[in-house]
Amino acid sequence: MPKPPKHIFVCTQNRGPGHPRGSCVQNGCSEMWEEFQHQFQVRDLWGKYALTATGCLGPCGFGPNVLVYPEGVMYGKVTKADVAAIIDEHLLGDQPVERLKVPGDVW
Ligand code: FES
Repeated sequence: MPKPPKHIFVCTQNRGPGHPRGSCVQNGCSEMWEEFQHQFQVRDLWGKYALTATGCLGPCGFGPNVLVYPEGVMYGKVTKADVAAIIDEHLLGDQPVERLKVPGDVW
């Protein structure tokens, strides 16, 4: 695969119940991660853009988190319902989804 124009990283870190930092799995990332994979499949985006499950991205308290490069935009509290907007507006439309960005003092 040539260098993709955008790369989406979805935090799927699991620290287990009761951990003081929490984690994106505890915050419900699994359904959202599955939706990204589903949308990549039905929209035939594999091979055109990169999508990777990753460990902790840092701002766990705002999770589930999604990071998009090359812009370095961090999205927080992302749900399954937000996946289409990230794909339509940011990945395909080059316009980051402002309402989903974590606060500027966090990232
Ligand atoms: S556990 Fe997901 S950002 Fe830290």
